[in-house]
Amino acid sequence: MEPVKVGLLGLGTVGGGTVEVLTSNAAEIARRAGRGIEIAFAAAREYRPESINGLDRIGRIGDDAFAVVEDPEIEIVIELIGGYSPARELVLKAIENGKHVVTANKALIAKHGNEIFAAARERGVVVGFEAAVAGGIPIIKALREGLAANHIEWIAGIINGTGNFILTEMRDKGRDFADVLAEAQALGYAEADPTFDVEGIDAAHKLTIMGSLAFGIPLQFERCFTEGISKIGAMDVVYAAELGYRIKHLGIARRSETGIELRVHPTLVPERRLLANVDGVMNAVLVKGDAVGPTLYYGAGAGALPTASAVVADLVDVVRSLTTDPNNRVPHLGFQPDALADTPVLRIEEVETAYYLRIFALDQPGVMARIASILGEQGISIEAIKQKEPGEGETYVTMVMLTHRVLEGRMNEAIARIEALDSVQEPVMRIRMETLSG
Ligand code: HSE
Repeated sequence: MEPVKVGLLGLGTVGGGTVEVLTSNAAEIARRAGRGIEIAFAAAREYRPESINGLDRIGRIGDDAFAVVEDPEIEIVIELIGGYSPARELVLKAIENGKHVVTANKALIAKHGNEIFAAARERGVVVGFEAAVAGGIPIIKALREGLAANHIEWIAGIINGTGNFILTEMRDKGRDFADVLAEAQALGYAEADPTFDVEGIDAAHKLTIMGSLAFGIPLQFERCFTEGISKIGAMDVVYAAELGYRIKHLGIARRSETGIELRVHPTLVPERRLLANVDGVMNAVLVKGDAVGPTLYYGAGAGALPTASAVVADLVDVVRSLTTDPNNRVPHLGFQPDALADTPVLRIEEVETAYYLRIFALDQPGVMARIASILGEQGISIEAIKQKEPGEGETYVTMVMLTHRVLEGRMNEAIARIEALDSVQEPVMRIRMETLSG
């Protein structure tokens, strides 16, 4: 049988990795797919030929991505350009032309996935996006197919390698935030705009996608609460450790009685949890299903070959499905499109969680009691309190508290009242806390 002709958009880190994997594992991939896969046409504005193994196996290379999606010979388009535009236009054009699409573009799927999937359904083509979440970890496949028997209860994931690398280096080596970020950029992990990593936007893209796959709701990136790691101080990392916790930047999606939580923020996690011990640039996703219980998926969340592994797995899936009835394929979000639910995504004020609070207050009798009574009046129960020794001659002292679970709206009111006290200096530092018990 003739090899399937594929068009490749982008020859950067992931594009180069995809060429390498398709070349070096060609025979094994053909045994799995049932046909060979040939990159007949690639487009890239800039690339480094010397860093791509297998470049000579590409049929043609040009610089016009639209020429690839218009080429009648191409059956599958791999989009590895990233960003919203022109990726959206290219993918929609490829679909309009009856081509299947494989993409690693989490921003595109999180923001425009509903439109793209509708267009793909209409045209009877597949859009694969395994590489969009957690790089090489097959979490999309797990949520969409492997866990299809379950009512998914919650997901908690370390889904940004750069952020995890920064937090790990801060904890282990006391390194400076900016210095670690520069290293992550040099290693090729960070996004083109590193604020996407540091401010949680990249993780929010990925969580949005996982939330839809888990709960069968349309993609709603704009409803995902997003807080980054840039405000975490070295002292918070130390205080959390003294209390038996690690600070991890988590994406959490949970089904509650009132709706669905979609939130990305730094989180205190008990240090004995596996997730708390996922370090460096590695990713991990913990999924709790009602039948299966907790399951954990761990691996490289970025990098050329791990991400290419996910891209090529999608390609194999698409090749296998070329001859199947479009109506009988696995739905893009794992649920039949007409069965998606309109369950509301909750505002962060409606979410219930526990908290770590760091308060800088005057060291005099009654201050701690006043703070504790404000928390009590708001119905917030304290789990632990630590007061740090003030330095010689210092009049202010740092207090660290852990609370039981409470609605964020109530905690906001309590924090506003504490910050209004004359005896409290500086804004209160609040970090959400999860036990992640199965
Ligand atoms: N910037 C991302 C990360 C790359 O650091 O995880 C993979 O999406």
